Amino acid sequence: MNNKIRNQVLEKYKHSNKLHRKFTTFISNRKGFEIIENEVSKTGTILDLGCGHGYLCHYLSLTGKDRKIIGLDNDPVKIIEAGRSNDSNNVTFVLSDVTRNRLPDVDIVIVYCMLYQIPNHEKEDVIRKVYDCLNPNGMFIIREVENDDLLFTIKDYIRNLPVISLWRKMPTFKLYYPKKDYYKTILKDAGFNNIIKKDGCIIANKENGNEK
Ligand SMILES: C[S@@+](CC[C@H](N)C(=O)[O-])C[C@H]1O[C@@H](n2cnc3c(N)ncnc32)[C@H](O)[C@@H]1O
Repeated sequence: MNNKIRNQVLEKYKHSNKLHRKFTTFISNRKGFEIIENEVSKTGTILDLGCGHGYLCHYLSLTGKDRKIIGLDNDPVKIIEAGRSNDSNNVTFVLSDVTRNRLPDVDIVIVYCMLYQIPNHEKEDVIRKVYDCLNPNGMFIIREVENDDLLFTIKDYIRNLPVISLWRKMPTFKLYYPKKDYYKTILKDAGFNNIIKKDGCIIANKENGNEK
């Protein structure tokens, strides 16, 4: 992330506690933010599904003042923290569960590390909802791990050991990494075109808004 923008994003969390600010500093080093920034238009409405505390929303709003950004998450604590950080008039945070509620109509949807928290049988519904909420010629960007890597399976197993979760003082929760090329297949089934993999992202388009 460009240092000036990075500091502007970090500044928004100056009221957060020390631990959260440390985490924000760590997150702000992500290469994925710049990769996504290079793919999305400088105008239009962007939905960040599973926005967490809203770092990506702030980043995209600072790099494109004419964009309208909606951050959506089902965790009330994160949405409150995101709201506290929000002093931009082109960013809105919404508390909503993507598996239960309809999505607002937008030009671009981004999912950054959220789908792995959705059970595999619900992922397909979510992808269909994304297709339906996109305006004609809309774009969908997924940045997620596909589990073609034994290392992830091992890490997930270790993370869920009771002794580890006690030590981390965090409850265990299941993660649902899909198999390699899973997203390409379900994106195609949902009606998306031009599905490509680029710099660790999967990018898909809703061409002309044609029905499936
Ligand atoms: C690993 S965090 C990623 C947050 C953010 N995208 C980032 O990269 O920093 C996953 C986020 O997805 C959210 N999430 C999980 N299931 C969700 C659902 N069904 N509806 C909306 N958000 C969800 C979680 O609350 C969490 O904030």
